[in-house]
Amino acid sequence: MAEDLTILSGTRREQYEGLIPQIKGLLDGETDLVANLANVTAALKEQFGWFWVGFYLVKENELVLGPFQGPVACTRIKKGRGVCGTSWAEKKTLIVPDVEKFPGHIACSSLSKSEIVIPIIQNNEVVAVLDVDSDEFDQFDITDQTFLEQIVSLLSF
Ligand code: SME
Repeated sequence: MAEDLTILSGTRREQYEGLIPQIKGLLDGETDLVANLANVTAALKEQFGWFWVGFYLVKENELVLGPFQGPVACTRIKKGRGVCGTSWAEKKTLIVPDVEKFPGHIACSSLSKSEIVIPIIQNNEVVAVLDVDSDEFDQFDITDQTFLEQIVSLLSF
């Protein structure tokens, strides 16, 4: 297993292309879910420097805060609430260029300006979401969606 991360420069796509094999290396041979979620958040935060990167896990019909990197955050989110709860309810990735324009957005921090949430689906059920927040507007697009969906597909729940 790799023990440190090589930080890459280049386009966003090139950064993901260099990061994904390293994430595979971090996950390889480790079966503990918390350990793996923790390392994925750390790798994404280190490479991209985003404001907040973390997982919420579905537990008893709520999203509950899991491993993350960044400032303290809300611990529980109901289905259909906020960007995370909407991504869960709709089973689809949501890209929000300006969080203040998203009806019902949950502001864990007023510094968060744009956001992407990827649902993690196993056996047709959402088991968790990956939430990434930036302190700048309009920071996420289809490239992030494509590669972040690829990264969460590497995880076993
Ligand atoms: N903004 C999210 C809540 C989670 S925090 O951003 C970490 C939402 O609206 O679901």
